[in-house]
Amino acid sequence: MMTTRNSQKKLTGQITTIERHILEKQSQHPDATGALTALMYDIALAGKLIAGHTTQAGLAEVIGTTSQTNIHGEEVQKLDEAADKILFRLNDHTGRVAVMVSEEADDILAIPEKYPTGKYVLSYDPLDGSSNIDYNVSVGTIFAIHQRLSADGERGTREDALQPGNKIVAAGYILYGSSTMLVYSVGNGVYGFTLDPQIGEFLLSHPDIKLPAKPKYFSANLGYQRKWSAGVRKYTDWLQGEDGGPTLGLRYIGSMVADFHRTLLSGGVFYYPVNTRDAKRPHGKLRLLYEVNPLAFLMKQAGGYTSNGHRDVLDIQPTNLHHRTPVFMGNKDLVLQAEKFIKEYDG
Ligand code: AHG
Ligand code: MN
Ligand code: MN
Repeated sequence: MMTTRNSQKKLTGQITTIERHILEKQSQHPDATGALTALMYDIALAGKLIAGHTTQAGLAEVIGTTSQTNIHGEEVQKLDEAADKILFRLNDHTGRVAVMVSEEADDILAIPEKYPTGKYVLSYDPLDGSSNIDYNVSVGTIFAIHQRLSADGERGTREDALQPGNKIVAAGYILYGSSTMLVYSVGNGVYGFTLDPQIGEFLLSHPDIKLPAKPKYFSANLGYQRKWSAGVRKYTDWLQGEDGGPTLGLRYIGSMVADFHRTLLSGGVFYYPVNTRDAKRPHGKLRLLYEVNPLAFLMKQAGGYTSNGHRDVLDIQPTNLHHRTPVFMGNKDLVLQAEKFIKEYDG
């Protein structure tokens, strides 16, 4: 009896592909040209292609490692370089993008002269958490889309790329985990899709994600805590129940995208503060344009908040393409508490 009811529920339940979802969202904006919809769809396709590569990662020993040739006589690429090329090649010729920024490239990625430029700027971390690949731990792609500032028809510029997070029009990530998921927002809620590998489609599995009000976990690399400021250390104690703080469980994966995904679904806080003894990185490790801002945009859409320890990261004007920032993201009250401790103890 139970089985019948469940299977009936499944049969009558609505199945929404990402394509249909994006189109439906577009139809709510009668003046939309469809370019953003198509760009989102190209990114979803890139995600499927990259997922195909990540599932082969463990076979590197068998089919050849980087700078060796594989059984097909092709040079085997590092996974982050392969992901970078997939994203660039899927978007360089469509006429939808003015310029791109990738973690893998020092400078902006120009659209080749032979192709037209479009009105959007695409910034991406092709593979976040790449140090985890060798251990079969989740990695992901993070992206943000801005509108260009330069005139239509021109080549895109560095100024197009150097825009704050509060100007993002769409952002998201693809997580290559126990299943492949795409989570995105165009500014009216956060939607999650799971790849059905049998049919090769992303299906809506997490409609309108909201951060749970009761947080579950805190997430940071506690291996570095002796190198954090006094305020951040006090905050870390507070998260563990000192000074009347909540007592949260700890989770840390070491792939920001995966730590973010869990924080989004479980509630809590993820932080990556400045390591005060790392003179090379006075502003922390994570990059504003293609790591922090896209996720901060989603966090805000889900009801949360992201700070650099002093203020909303989305308001920071990036000064270079690989601008780094400390980050505290998650339930608003938890993040505000980090700001409070930092103000009190670090000045
Ligand atoms: P990437 O693999 O794109 O270079 O990013 C790695 C980042 C991020 O994913 C993660 O939060 C952080 O590195 C982990 O750093 P630690 O190993 O210092 O904790
Ligand atoms: Mn990264
Ligand atoms: Mn990366």
